[in-house]
Amino acid sequence: MQEKKIELNFTSAHLSELDNKDQELISNSKVAFETAYAPYSGFLVGASILLDNGEIVNGSNQENVAYPSGLCAERVAIFYAGAKFPEAKIRTIAVSVTSKNFKVTDVISPCGACRQVMAEYEDKQAQPIKVILHSPTDDVLIANTVQDLLPFMFKSPHLKQH
Ligand code: THU
Repeated sequence: MQEKKIELNFTSAHLSELDNKDQELISNSKVAFETAYAPYSGFLVGASILLDNGEIVNGSNQENVAYPSGLCAERVAIFYAGAKFPEAKIRTIAVSVTSKNFKVTDVISPCGACRQVMAEYEDKQAQPIKVILHSPTDDVLIANTVQDLLPFMFKSPHLKQH
């Protein structure tokens, strides 16, 4: 038996410390949450993706009265980007949040399913995706690769017998 450790890296910063490109992407994710359809939770999430072809693709959470049928902002944006620009690689995804019901003070922490989807696209494009999580207080948490958000991800080789 051997206890092992893994190290995760992330950066904590204020919006004003980011470069112009990242600040611009966060402006987009803030606009994106205005398009959320979230009548059940009142929790509005916006995700904005910068692609390597320079395009920016936005998504927002889309809820449904049959709750599990809804989809998080991150996956709406990633699937939209994949459908519209299948050849493009994702450079950065910024995620912003607000609530109609209370004051949000923390950055959003993407759910496990969104982390798995981000991780798959990172694997597919063989290039790290930078993830910027943004709070209404303009605090940000940055991971330079999805691996830092989802160690031990389920990967396609796990589907095959070795
Ligand atoms: N949600 C997102 O869009 N992204 C996340 O990372 C976490 C949660 C949405 C799903 C649902 O519409 C609402 O927030 C409350 O869970």
